[in-house]
Amino acid sequence: MFAATPSVLRCSRCGRFVDWAEARLQVICGCRSHVDLPPVLTRDAVDAERHIALDLFRRDFGRTDVAAFGEVVSLETVPGLIVAEMEGDLSGALAWRRRGEALHVVALATDPMWQRSGVGGHLLAEAEMVARREKLSRVIIATTNDNLPALYFYQRRGYRITEVVPGAGARHAAAPAGTGFAEIPVMDELRLEKVLPT
Ligand SMILES: CC(C)(COP(=O)(O)OP(=O)(O)OC[C@H]1O[C@@H](n2cnc3c(N)ncnc32)[C@H](O)[C@@H]1OP(=O)(O)O)[C@@H](O)C(=O)NCCC(=O)NCCS
Repeated sequence: MFAATPSVLRCSRCGRFVDWAEARLQVICGCRSHVDLPPVLTRDAVDAERHIALDLFRRDFGRTDVAAFGEVVSLETVPGLIVAEMEGDLSGALAWRRRGEALHVVALATDPMWQRSGVGGHLLAEAEMVARREKLSRVIIATTNDNLPALYFYQRRGYRITEVVPGAGARHAAAPAGTGFAEIPVMDELRLEKVLPT
């Protein structure tokens, strides 16, 4: 089971688990040295793990229906589910589906306990491998204006912002007041993509 409830992110200074509104952004230099961690194994989820992944998504996004690219996608029935395992525990999950010639990453979350341990990066790399295997030319992702950690994370991994849809992000907001990361109002949907090398 995922270790931290009901928090979403982990403080990189003190290690405490925090929710969206409580989290803050901090600029650091490249001083963080590499930490030796257990290997991250990624694979397709088995049926029994689906509810564990759903719990993690529900905790992070407040719902299991994700609004993105003008549609509402249910995480309960999404066809693709990849999980990450560390030391025998599920440490993160990525849900995907096909959308035209693209693999759409519908949701991605790492258990706060294991954030900044390579889990998210491995899950995204696995999704890109699936896309290549399925002969899909692009990976697409939608996030919201407030989610600066995710925008950082994706752009660091070669994703580019292709579209901003003003006002469409409000449907993503987990908090009833419509606030997200660091209490920034959730307003807009930001669409990103990575064109896979042929
Ligand atoms: C966005 C999210 C999935 C990233 O997951 P993550 O597992 O923390 O990602 P990673 O560990 O692969 O990468 C994060 C950082 O840790 C660093 N890291 C990874 N392994 C490391 C190690 N062994 N030693 C030191 N640093 C390490 C990475 O280098 C990376 O930092 P950088 O980009 O500055 O280089 C996670 O923050 C999350 O679950 N957020 C909440 C849900 C969310 O916003 N999802 C996306 C919605 S669209």
